[in-house]
Amino acid sequence: MNLVPRDAKVVAVVCNQFGDTGKGKVVDYITNYWNPKYVVRPCGADNAGHTMEYGGKKIVTHIIPSGIIHDSVGVKSVVGMGAAVNLITAKKELKALIGAGISMNGLMFSVGAKMILPQHILLDRLRESRSDKIGTTGRGVGPVYSDHVARIGLTLGDLQNKDMFVKKLIKNMEEKFVIFRSFNPALIKKIMFQDVLCDGCFYDEQNIINIDAVIEYYCELLFKYVFKDMIYETEKELKSVVGKEKILLEGAQGILLDIDEGTYPFVTSSSCSPSGLARGAGLREEDVDFVLGVVKAPYMTRVGSGPFPTEIGGVNAISQYENELNTHSIDPKSIKENKNVFLNYKNHIIQAGAIGVVGNEFGATTGRPRRIGWLDLVALKYSMIFSGKNIIITKPDVLSGCEQIPICIGYVYKGKDVFYGNKTIKNGDKIDYMITKQEILENCVPEYVFFPGWYEEISEVKKYKKLPKELKVILEFIKRETGAKIIMISVGPDRDQTIVCWFLFAIVRILKRGSDIFYWIFH
Ligand code: GDP
Ligand code: IMO
Ligand code: MG
Repeated sequence: MNLVPRDAKVVAVVCNQFGDTGKGKVVDYITNYWNPKYVVRPCGADNAGHTMEYGGKKIVTHIIPSGIIHDSVGVKSVVGMGAAVNLITAKKELKALIGAGISMNGLMFSVGAKMILPQHILLDRLRESRSDKIGTTGRGVGPVYSDHVARIGLTLGDLQNKDMFVKKLIKNMEEKFVIFRSFNPALIKKIMFQDVLCDGCFYDEQNIINIDAVIEYYCELLFKYVFKDMIYETEKELKSVVGKEKILLEGAQGILLDIDEGTYPFVTSSSCSPSGLARGAGLREEDVDFVLGVVKAPYMTRVGSGPFPTEIGGVNAISQYENELNTHSIDPKSIKENKNVFLNYKNHIIQAGAIGVVGNEFGATTGRPRRIGWLDLVALKYSMIFSGKNIIITKPDVLSGCEQIPICIGYVYKGKDVFYGNKTIKNGDKIDYMITKQEILENCVPEYVFFPGWYEEISEVKKYKKLPKELKVILEFIKRETGAKIIMISVGPDRDQTIVCWFLFAIVRILKRGSDIFYWIFH
């Protein structure tokens, strides 16, 4: 019996929440198991941080597809045209991977991948200095994608021809100088001297960005560094093999952060859903045979600003938890022994902080503490509209020892009456579907069902039936409420800490086969 349907050729892994659900681990597991010829990162940028743990190693990728760790067995890793590439951070990432003994013979970047340049990073960071910030990763993602839509962006293919690059770069910079001049020069200088902007190597006191320095730096990066041999018409190659070779599409961010489907404006600037992944790889949505949605449960996280109805402790939960440890002179390293105490702390802020620390909920890219909340099934049902029903549950092991686990099944709107489409939402109205509009969602108060937790550690469990019955009750509830099929459960960061729900999956497949046979007989 197969984890991925036997006839599937293109499989997509997306996140059903706000990112950081364990896509890296899942992509690695599936690559190891299913042996795709290609693993493609079709969207997003180095704002992502995907973690893989196997054989005592821990690897974090940002723009490079997680499939890279399988390069030595012939897997090709492709950064698609829907992705945005910062060559400076990509170079650092490649160096780290090489240092970890990983080869990159099959690594390819699309000619159409968007190019993140110093002006994008500066603009992103300047905008984030305002009080109404999005809480971005500061990687230039918003500005690079807005340039693309405004038709003034540059792609990696442009860099291959110096004249073309220079002409487009100058055009791209024109309006930016006007915007830069509306910000405080001291702040601009401070940002330009940050590590991510090569410690001031592009800074010009008079003109803010020294265009000649940018041209020289990037041309050197392309022609003198390995990138020269890595830029291809990847869409053409993928189109030519679609239906013949196995292709795994690795999503970045999450559906609730999708530019159209997410909690706009607190979103990233690319598409994180299966259709966006297909398009970013240069394929059609119909080419995708099977989608797996990754769901952290029964708690979830978000980084950066934006509505999060089931949030438990706010952005400072983790630091408050750490203060609490200090006050009681408890060694933070003794978290394992103190897990049962802190996961059940009556002060919810500290409880959330403890979940964050046990779950190691710190951004893999920025190191920021992630915000912690209970599992929101309203949000999950919403994201499943885009991903479909097949889900993978990750990180339930973090909550072993938590006495009571609330799961959100609906919201009550607590705010001023507001028009939304053809109706008015009134104070006290019950809402059982997700409205992503900020002003509504931030006034949605969750309604919870409370479940008893379990005490056993589950990180070594290999079979579904061996999971604690309390957790199985929760998993069955998630399935019933959302219509999801749970394909896999991850019980720890390591590749081996994974339970494939063969039994459940087998029944679904048999039933499906049965209905297919029925169909053939009667049509
Ligand atoms: P991604 O962005 O979706 O790839 O997720 P991240 O790598 O940013 O964050 C997920 C974190 O959880 C990483 O530190 C993983 O190593 C870790 N992780 C993944 N699955 C599990 C799991 O089932 N249990 C635990 N405890 N950690 C996990
Ligand atoms: P992975 O792939 C979690 C969030 C940022 C911010 C918003 C916009 O590791 O799951 P951006 O820099 O994209 O303009 O920031 O999106 N964000 C992520 N949150 N995981 C990610 O990636 C994210 N990439 C961006 O925190 O709220
Ligand atoms: Mg991440």
